Parts: sequence; C-alpha cells; structure tokens
Amino acid sequence: MNSIHNPFTPKSGIEPRFFIGREGEIKFFKQALKDTEAGRPSHFIVLGDWGSGKTSLLKEFKNIAQKEGSLCSLVSVRDFEGEKSLRDGINYLVEEIALRLPLDVSRFHKFAGDLTQVGVTVAGTGFHFSKEIVRGDPQPFFYSNMLNLWSDLRNETKVLVVLLDDIQYLSSISAIMSIIRNTLAEEKIVKEVKLLFVLASTFHGWKPFLQRNHPIGRYFTPRMKLTNLSESETYKFIEDYLEHSGVSFSKEVMKQVYHYTEGHLYEVHVLCNHLFNNQIKGRVTPKVFESALERTLDTLGEEVFDDLFESAGSTEQLVLSVLAENKGNQSFHEVFSIAQKRYALQKNVVAVNLERLVKKRVVKKLRRATYSVDDTLFRTYIIQRMAEVNEVNK
Ligand SMILES: Nc1ncnc2c1ncn2[C@@H]1O[C@H](COP(=O)(O)OP(=O)(O)O)[C@@H](O)[C@H]1O
Ligand SMILES: [Mg+2]
Repeated sequence: MNSIHNPFTPKSGIEPRFFIGREGEIKFFKQALKDTEAGRPSHFIVLGDWGSGKTSLLKEFKNIAQKEGSLCSLVSVRDFEGEKSLRDGINYLVEEIALRLPLDVSRFHKFAGDLTQVGVTVAGTGFHFSKEIVRGDPQPFFYSNMLNLWSDLRNETKVLVVLLDDIQYLSSISAIMSIIRNTLAEEKIVKEVKLLFVLASTFHGWKPFLQRNHPIGRYFTPRMKLTNLSESETYKFIEDYLEHSGVSFSKEVMKQVYHYTEGHLYEVHVLCNHLFNNQIKGRVTPKVFESALERTLDTLGEEVFDDLFESAGSTEQLVLSVLAENKGNQSFHEVFSIAQKRYALQKNVVAVNLERLVKKRVVKKLRRATYSVDDTLFRTYIIQRMAEVNEVNK
C-alpha cells in the first residue's frame, strides 16, 4: 500500500467519487429526454432534504444529456431571500441559463443580438442590464429569450435541457414560477422548441409554490422524491467505495454507520470519511468509532446542527433535549411528564415551547400531537450540547 486516498466526498455539490443508485431516477430522465425530443416534454421536479443528493443528481443528468447530444444548462439558483422583484428574478434566470451552457454566449447570435437591442451588454462572463431597459412585462421577455436561445442552438442540440437547482431560493418571488410555466405552455414553445426543465428543491422550500399558486406545483409533476439509502444499500455503498482503497470497515462499524445515519447520503459521507481517516493498518474497527463520531458531530455542527440548535431559546432547548433522548414519535404527555420531573416545567410551558420548535422546524409534529426529532446524529448532538450547557450551569 503506497498512498491511500479517502474516497468519501463529504462536501455538498461535490460530485461523488462513485455515483450510487438512482437507477429509477436516471431511467425516468432518459425517457423525459426522449419524450421531449419527440415533442412531448414533461418538465418535472426533484425534491429532497438537505444532503439527500439533489445537486449530484442534476449533475448526473447533465452528464447523461450531454453524452447523448443534448446541451444542458445547470443553474445553482442564488439566494433571493426576501427579494421581491420579478424583474430581477427573470433577468437573473435569463442570464444564468445562457451562461451555464457549455458554449460561449457570443455564439448565440439571435439571443445576444436581441438583448443588445434592448440595451443589455452581453459579455462572455456576464450580462449588464442597464436600469432604463427591460421595464416591460417579464413574461414576454422570458418567452422571447427562450425562443431565441433555441433558434441559436437548434442545430447543435437535440434537446435544450435547463436544470434549476435550489429553486426554493426563489420562493420570495413565487410568481416567477407562473412565468416559467406560462412560457413552457406557449404553443410555439411546445410545438417548435425542444425544451426540458428540471427543477430541484427542498420539500419545505417548495411549499410556497404549491400554496400560493395552486396549479404551478402540479405543473411540475411527477415529483421525484429522493429518499435515504436502505440498510443494505448503505452497506453496498460503503463496500463499493472501499473497494481498491486498501482499507476495510468491520461489520460492526458498518452497522453503526447505518444506525447513526439511517442512510442519509451526506451524513454517510461525513462519518465514513472520518472513519477512513482513523484506519489502523487498513482496518477500521469499533475502537476508533467514537472519535470519528465526535468529528462527525463537529463537522455537521458547523454546517447544519449549530444553527438549528441555536435557533431555539433556552427553555426550548430543555424541551428539545427531552424529546431527543428517544427515537421516534412521542406524545405530548410523554414529553411533558419527563420535562416536569427534570426541569419542573409546567404543562402550558412545555406545550408552547414544543410548538415553537415545530415552527422553527427543529422538531417534527405528526398527526395527533406526537412529536419527534428524526435525525439520529442530530439527536446525539443535542444530548451532547445539553450536557455541556448543564455542566456550565452547575
Ligand atoms: N448518488 C450518489 N452516490 C454517492 N454519493 C452521493 C450521491 N449523491 C450525492 N452524493 C454525496 O452526498 C452528499 C450530498 O449530495 P448533494 O448532491 O450535495 O445533496 P443536496 O444537493 O441534496 O444537498 C455529497 O457529499 C455527495 O458527494
Ligand atoms: Mg444541493
């Protein structure tokens, strides 16, 4: 064994070393490409929680499409939090969709020409929308730019694929989805343009589009929901990654990985990455598990858990810690009786704080007032953080 490379890629958006599973999703996408080429586009959406593999799947779609002769624009939507201007949102999309294609925009004669006429400066690296211009209706603006792009590219591509990642970042301008929908439904677009839109969003982030604009959410069906790996898939995942690495994990360690991550892709990568770093003579055994777990909690803490935990006030944290001790759904009375004994909290205080935690999406509320903290690593993190808090208060 000369040099050892850690095969796990615990970074969101970084292409995994080996792309595992998703056969159904890929088959579906390939069919959508074919259908679009045949004039029957079915635009759809990929939904999944943080770290479930949305970005990686879109990248895979892009690789597949371009291999099969279709140009692809993959846009990672920037955060428009609180911004309301439909105009800015549409300008941004038009610009990004063109810039993220694998060809230089200077080759898009009709597209760039028309934009220049309305006063937009087009360069290879970005556009400049001057203040005076494009005051008109954003709907025809988006429509005509999509038509122009197609007329520039029609001889170079079978289908023009537009992948919009993290579309939830545009939820403060939810009307933008109507513009996309209306454009895609225009007769000329349906008949003449081979355009396929695929969106990706978190479950929660997609809700505003469903509520405020009923038909919009339904337009992007089917919804492809990304789930965690099953137990056997998790083991296969680890074995595939470790093959040829010169390192192996014991059965017990693999079981622990599943126990803590429940097949959550990002968590599996982080934990396995730290475990791999703890190998001794090429073996990873239970005696190095705790230390890898600690580092995993630090990593996930910085990236996700700290913010979630700290969004809760001090009484909320007490209630949260009671809930976090057990896995699965717990009734209000179960939580209350422990919170009362341990922290002398009154019934209404527990109730109010539980509801606040639900609102902040730290806790999940299920039917009939049962509550849970789903993520086992997060539960482990909460228990540790509370132990630290209690230590300080002693
Ligand atoms: N199909 C896959 N096989 C193996 N690893 C994957 C796969 N999809 C994603 N990953 C890994 O999982 C982690 C999260 O993926 P990412 O695409 O960033 O998720 P999301 O965009 O949903 O937050 C990353 O470390 C990535 O490398
Ligand atoms: Mg992502």
